Amino acid sequence: MTLWYDPREILIGGQWRRTPATLALDDPSTGEAFGEIARGQASDIDEAVAAAEAARHGVWGRTTAAERGRLMARIGQMILARADDLAQIEARDVGKPLKQAKGDALAMARYMEFYAGAADKIMGETIPYMDGYTVYTLREPHGVTGHIIPWNYPMQILGRSVGAALAMGNTCVVKPAEEACLTALAFARIAEEAGLPPGVLNVVPGLGEEAGAALSSHPGIHHVSFTGSVGVGMLIQAAAARNVVPVTLELGGKSPQLVFEDADLDKALPFLVNAGIQNAGQTCSASSRILVHRSLYAQVVDRMAARYRTLRVGPALADLDVGPLISARQKEIVEGMLALSSDLTVAARGQIVADAPKGGFYVAPTLLADVTPGHRLAQDEIFGPAQVVIPFDDEEDAVAIANGTEFGLVAGVWSENGGRQMRMAKRLRAGQVFLNNYGAGGGVELPFGGVGKSGHGREKGFEALYGFSVLKTVAAHHG
Ligand code: NAI
Ligand code: MG
Repeated sequence: MTLWYDPREILIGGQWRRTPATLALDDPSTGEAFGEIARGQASDIDEAVAAAEAARHGVWGRTTAAERGRLMARIGQMILARADDLAQIEARDVGKPLKQAKGDALAMARYMEFYAGAADKIMGETIPYMDGYTVYTLREPHGVTGHIIPWNYPMQILGRSVGAALAMGNTCVVKPAEEACLTALAFARIAEEAGLPPGVLNVVPGLGEEAGAALSSHPGIHHVSFTGSVGVGMLIQAAAARNVVPVTLELGGKSPQLVFEDADLDKALPFLVNAGIQNAGQTCSASSRILVHRSLYAQVVDRMAARYRTLRVGPALADLDVGPLISARQKEIVEGMLALSSDLTVAARGQIVADAPKGGFYVAPTLLADVTPGHRLAQDEIFGPAQVVIPFDDEEDAVAIANGTEFGLVAGVWSENGGRQMRMAKRLRAGQVFLNNYGAGGGVELPFGGVGKSGHGREKGFEALYGFSVLKTVAAHHG
């Protein structure tokens, strides 16, 4: 892995500098530190917000939408040119198998391309009104947007939120996760090289309760977007409420895939397992519940179990099926959750390879069967490589179980019956429903977000641009 920049620096108003305090940079594959990163403080956030405020009144405020798009397209191309470097960095920093890290780098480039193309296609409306009036609407940026990014998909989540915010003409302050900030810093270096004016993008790594809390409660922020845990999401919404600014919250889920008796199992099987173990299950939209019609239940458990037994867990650079978890703490959380499975059937486990470094944060993928819908492991997010398989009797039962958690992010339906597909798409409580697939390849074009404790607001696609803008109505009386 070659870092072409100093990971201890933060970016404020076009200036890179170090902070007095630092945090360790851990390699999840070995459990060993391989450097240090900055530990930004509230005072750094103050400066970053001031820089972003100044930048929106500077050249950025006069940059046309087409020019913003052109600049973002350039950033996208530069990301593509460095995709292998970025993948190596992310694999080391997050413990992600290399191929998955490369996928994230390519997705970040796609976000830039998509929002580059969309920047000059956001239009207002003219509204038919009383005689003597002309009324129209303008879509304007919020101003300074705050972005609190988690560690599970740093490049994708930064790409989708900062991409949409910049396309709309906002200026940004980014607080990446303390566990994984290297690619956010790389992105900032690339954006700078591409010609993004100073202060438009500011990046301050640091702890959630320090830099993160300072950002979400800052009176100079006009919008906060957050992806992470439900508990912190609540804190962020409460902090933003004191400043009466909007928030976008993406807080994960307990997303089901429903396998009906008429499903094409050969097609479904790879998705059923993959959606649970991708990124070691540390995925907001992970499918951690598999709901199966009772007639197929034993068969699906057997076939999933066979796949689980072939899963290999090891260091990111070995590029196996599953890498380590992000941290010792996350490993502890996941093992603590799995300890609640003593009353369940362990249908199968994957294997940690023998030469995986002993200090790495590895957890063997675990498939749990004979799970009741109310069991804690069927209700709470595990955020590790584990899935529960639950039987159902009919459509009614399937919908009740699927909708029977506090979450509502994503759902998948496997059925060859068109009417059933349409009924399920309407009845499932989720922000995205996938019919005979799961995830649709990530789709930067597809609006994404939850209901219930999965959060609110929509990211990705064109819809995100509305979230990163404010509608102004102009009524002219001209007689
Ligand atoms: P977290 O919610 O604490 O961290 C996410 C981001 O929020 C990080 O950048 C962190 O620095 C920041 N943060 C933490 N406390 C903050 C505060 N008081 N004010 C402002 N920002 C703050 O998530 P954590 O602790 O790393 O993971 C715990 C659990 O959260 C996971 O097991 C998983 O269930 C869930 N999670 C969900 C994610 C998703 O994609 N929806 C991503 C990460 C975690
Ligand atoms: Mg936390």
